[in-house]
Order: sequence, then structure tokens, then C-alpha cells
Amino acid sequence: MSQPKLLSAGRIVTCEDGVDLGAIDDGALLIDGGLVAAIGDREQLLAAHPDVEHEAHPGVLVTPGLIDAHTHAVWAGSRASEYAMRMAGADYEQIAEAGGGIVASMRAVREATVTSLRDDLEARLRRMASLGVTTVEVKSGYGLDEENERKQLEAIGALRSRDDLPALVPTFLGMHALPPEAQGDKLGYATRCKQWLERIAADGLAEYVDAYIDRSAFSVVEARPVLERARELGLGVRLHIGQFADVGGAKLAALLQAASVDHLEHISEQAAEALAEAAIPAVMLPVASFSLNQAPPPVEMLRRVGMRFIVASDANPGSAPTESLPLAMAFAARLYGLSVDEVLLGATRRAAASLGSEAGVLRVGAPADLVVWDLSHEREIIQPWGSSRVRRVLRSGRPLSRP
Ligand code: NIG
Ligand code: FE
Repeated sequence: MSQPKLLSAGRIVTCEDGVDLGAIDDGALLIDGGLVAAIGDREQLLAAHPDVEHEAHPGVLVTPGLIDAHTHAVWAGSRASEYAMRMAGADYEQIAEAGGGIVASMRAVREATVTSLRDDLEARLRRMASLGVTTVEVKSGYGLDEENERKQLEAIGALRSRDDLPALVPTFLGMHALPPEAQGDKLGYATRCKQWLERIAADGLAEYVDAYIDRSAFSVVEARPVLERARELGLGVRLHIGQFADVGGAKLAALLQAASVDHLEHISEQAAEALAEAAIPAVMLPVASFSLNQAPPPVEMLRRVGMRFIVASDANPGSAPTESLPLAMAFAARLYGLSVDEVLLGATRRAAASLGSEAGVLRVGAPADLVVWDLSHEREIIQPWGSSRVRRVLRSGRPLSRP
């Protein structure tokens, strides 16, 4: 076990309280046993722990490590040609209809091995860590049969014990698209997903189950049995809803006490009220809507009815070609009008809470997952865009591996 250590900075944003980010100017924290053991005024902590090693970062910002609560980070192959087609005017749903999209990634994943999926995922996680990310939710959903969904989940599982990489939260997303061998039979496919889920849950390969509920994906009726079974098995539910159309997923999310609802470009006020009533957070995925040339979700209405926001990258080879949560944060501010506080809480404490993680806040007893930024204030995280401004990134008090 490493020795206790004091880390001081010009400004520590704790993300602990409500809309107030809980900033401590000229603050310090004591890291012991991988946890935050004390946090507060720099001079006081230095005086109280005169013999402890001191790492000083004068003038710069410390925040909790960033938490990316929605990614499809385990994939193989490339859809760069589809991207070029889309930029030339082709439609995402039509590309999928013609056998591309998610099913194109399915073909690549089916050809890959667990080892190659694991290695590609590790490289992505290192790049994410270099951007300040210390926890990543990762979905399956490009296997679309039992063997290949498990392959993706096993690749995630193989990296969960690695303390030099971000913490991982695996999600089973069998209900992502219909594979060609299902020949259009969505209900039959859903029944098979439910059978795979039994074994996936028994083997501890997933903590959450997701389903893509939309006009060109699955209906509430098709998705419901799998998701209900997930809850019976003690797993959480996170749902893709309203990306292209509001087909009623919100009601189901409320019924199942989902941990999050994600996308929400298309959502009625009534549905949003039901979600707010059930205290389900809205995961904003602005890179996806930007890449798809869509209008943002009705953010003002969601805020008015009382929904809380999470911001995530949606990292995937199709709709959200990025690995960067800070880019998603910048877009959430610029394109969606989220405030700096909403963006930062949405990429830390609220994201962590939706994943059942203790991280995302800096307080006594929390894991010492944090970012030392090469920036002086949290409002600088959302601009400029596109380069890493991370000086140090620690998980449980230890530096993460970077590329
Ligand atoms: O969140 N909407 C469905 N799933 C992903 C896209 C996956 C893909 O295009 O490969 C999303 O945008
Ligand atoms: Fe997604």
C-alpha cells in the first residue's frame, strides 16, 4: 500500500453539493489507501500533516475524474466509408436499413477475437484516460448473438481488474439491432436475448441491460420482457429512447426505475414529467445529434419539468465518432445550452450516481479518482476544444496508463 500523500491545487471542485459545485480555492486533499482521507484548506491540511509527502499544483484546477456513462467502446472495424456517405447527404437510418450501421459493426465484431477486442478497448481506454476519464460504462450490442455479445462482455471483463485503466461498468445491449439471421422477427430475437441474459447475469458479465427503443429499432412491447427480467435478476436498466422518435420508452423506463434514459432528442412533455417524477436522469449525447445533423433535445423543457442531466460521449464507430467526453461536454454547453455546472456535474457526480459508483465526487471516503488540469477554472474545460488539458489523472490515488 502506498504512503499517504497530500495533493494541493489552486482550486478544487468537489462536485459534492446540489447545483453548487463546492469549490475550494487554495485547497488540498489527503490521499490514503486510495481514498480521499481529508479535504479542505491547503494551509490547514499542510499544518495538520507536516510529514506527509506533498504534491503541489499551484494555480490549477482539480476535479473528480470524469465519468463517461454511455459508450459503445468495444468495437472492431471502421465505418469511415459510411461517415463519408453521411457527410455527402446519406441518411443514418437508411444506411442501417441497407445492411450497414450497427449490423456493419456486428460483422466486424463477429470476425474479431476476444483478445483483439480487448486490445482495441484497452487502447481506447488509455486515450480516454488521457482526457481525464476515470470510469467508463461500456455496452455490448455489436455481437447480436449469444457468442458474440459474450465476446464483447468478456473483453470488457478482462480489463475490469486492471487498476491502471479507468473503472469499467459493463452493460448488455443485445437489443441494439436485429441481426440478418433473425429475418425480421423482432419478438423471436427478443426471446433469445432474454435467454442469453440468464447466462450473462449468472456469469456476472453485465451490471446493466440496455435496449434501443426507437422507430427503426425495437418497440416497448419487444424490449419489455428482457428489461423486466433484468430487474428480476437484480441488474439495472439504462435505455436508448427518443433518438429518432418518441415511441413510448419513457413510461417503461419509469416503470422499471431505469438508472438513466439516453438521447431524448424526441420526447413529449408528458413523458419527461413521468421521468422527472421517477427521478431518472437524462443522458445527453450531443456528439451523436451533431454527427446526425439533428436538432438538440428540448433541454429547456427537460430542465423545467425537473430532469437532471448527464453528459456522455456515446463513443461508437457510427453515430458518435469520438472517444472524448470533454468534447461531448463542450458540445453540451455550445449546442444544448447546458451551464458549466450542469456539464461538470453531468460528467462526474450525476454520471457516477447513475452507475452506482462511489466516484464522481471528492469528499472524505470517496475514491481518490481525480484530474489535475492544466487549467485554472472549471469554465475552461468546455473550451478550447480538441486538445487534452490534463496534467495528471489518478484512479484510487494512482496514475492511469495513457497512450
Ligand atoms: O447511441 N442509437 C443506437 N446506438 C448508438 C449508435 C450505434 C452505432 O451507430 O453503431 C447510439 O447512437
Ligand atoms: Fe448509444
